[in-house]
Amino acid sequence: MPFPGKALDCNATILFINPVKTIANLVHEPGPYSSFSLEEISIPEPAADEVLLKHRAIGVNFIDTYFRSGLYPYPEPPPIIPGSEACAEVIETGSEVTDLKVGDRVAYTGGYGSYCHHRIMKADRVVKLPETVSDEVAAASMVKGLTAHYLLHGTFKVKPGDTILFHAAAGGVGLFAGQWADYLGATIIGTVGSGEKAELALANGYHHVINYEEENFVDRVMEITDGSGVEVAYDSVGQDTYPHSLKCVKRLGMWVPFGQSSGPIQNFQLKDLVAHGSLFTTRPTLFDYVATREALVAACDSLFGMLENGHINVSINQRFKLEEAALVHELLENRQTKGSTVMFIS
Ligand SMILES: NC(=O)c1ccc[n+]([C@@H]2O[C@H](COP(=O)([O-])OP(=O)(O)OC[C@H]3O[C@@H](n4cnc5c(N)ncnc54)[C@H](OP(=O)(O)O)[C@@H]3O)[C@@H](O)[C@H]2O)c1
Repeated sequence: MPFPGKALDCNATILFINPVKTIANLVHEPGPYSSFSLEEISIPEPAADEVLLKHRAIGVNFIDTYFRSGLYPYPEPPPIIPGSEACAEVIETGSEVTDLKVGDRVAYTGGYGSYCHHRIMKADRVVKLPETVSDEVAAASMVKGLTAHYLLHGTFKVKPGDTILFHAAAGGVGLFAGQWADYLGATIIGTVGSGEKAELALANGYHHVINYEEENFVDRVMEITDGSGVEVAYDSVGQDTYPHSLKCVKRLGMWVPFGQSSGPIQNFQLKDLVAHGSLFTTRPTLFDYVATREALVAACDSLFGMLENGHINVSINQRFKLEEAALVHELLENRQTKGSTVMFIS
C-alpha cells in the first residue's frame, strides 16, 4: 500500500514530505548536546519483512547520550539518528508482513533510530499495544520497563524476602525497578542524588532510600541489612559507585553493572569478586534478553500486564518536542531529570 504525502508542522514551518522523506534529528559526528541537526532525509520503502512507522511519542534514554557522544561506537557510518524506543502507527507494511496492518498502534525498542517522524522497522521487532497503554507510557516503557523486567526476572531472579540495592532509584529505569521489585516481594534499597528524588523513589516501591551525595551508601546498606548485605546490587552509575557497590553484596551474591551514567568502570579485576565473597557478575544488555521474537513478546506481555493492572505507574516528568533533543540530553546528563522523558512531534 503506498504511503500518502503528509503535511507536518516542524519548527513552525509546514513541510510536505513525499513517500520517501521524513524529518530526523541527526548526529553527523559524535559530540556535545549541540551535535543534533534537524533535517529532512530520505528513507527507503519497507522491504517485504518491514513496516513503515509514523511516530506518536519517542522515549528518551541514557543510552541515546552514549551514541550521541561517541561513547558507544556507531554501528554504521554517520550520520546516525539516536533514539532507542517509541510508540508509533503503522503506515505501510511490506508484502510478507501478516500480523500487522496499516493503522495499528505499536511500540518497539532498538539500539538507535527513533529521533525522527517516520522510520522503517523489521516487523518482528514491533509489538501491538493494548488500548489501555497510552502513547507516552508505551514510548517510555519499551527500554526502561523491559530493562527492569530482565534485570529482576532474568539476570537475577528476585524472590520474596530478597533485599536488593538499586542505584539511581529515581531515574527512568529506577522507578520501574522499584515498583516491580516491590511487587515481587523484595525489600528494596535505592540511592538518589537529592531529597526530592528520595521522596519520588519512596513513592515508587523503595523501602529505604539513601542520598549518596550526603551519606556513605555502603555504611547505610550495612546498617539497614544488619551487616549482612544485599542479595544483588544493580549498578548503572558506573565509575562513581565502583567498587563500593561490591561491598554491599553478601557472600555468593550478585553485582550487576548494567550502565555507566557517571562514566565507564575503568579498573575492574576478577580478583575483586573473590575479595568480596565469591560474587557473581555479568554486564548485561536488554537487547540480548529480547533478541528473539518469542522473548520480546513474552517480556512485553509481562510489562503490559504490570501496566494494565496498575502494579507499575509510569512517571513521565519531562515532555519535550523532538527538536529540543539537545536540551533533553543536557538535562539528562546533568542529573536534572526524574523518572521518564518523552519527546513529541509538534
Ligand atoms: N544494560 C542495559 O540493558 C540498560 C538498559 C537501559 C538503561 N541502562 C542504563 O541504566 C542507566 C539509567 O538509564 P536511564 O535512561 O533510566 O537514565 P536515568 O536513570 O533517568 O538517568 C541517569 C541517572 O543516573 C544518576 N547519576 C549518578 N551519577 C551521575 C553522573 N555523574 N552523571 C549522570 N547521571 C548520574 C542520576 O540520578 P541521581 O541524581 O539520583 O544520582 C541520573 O538521573 C544508564 O546508565 C543506562 O545506560 C542499561
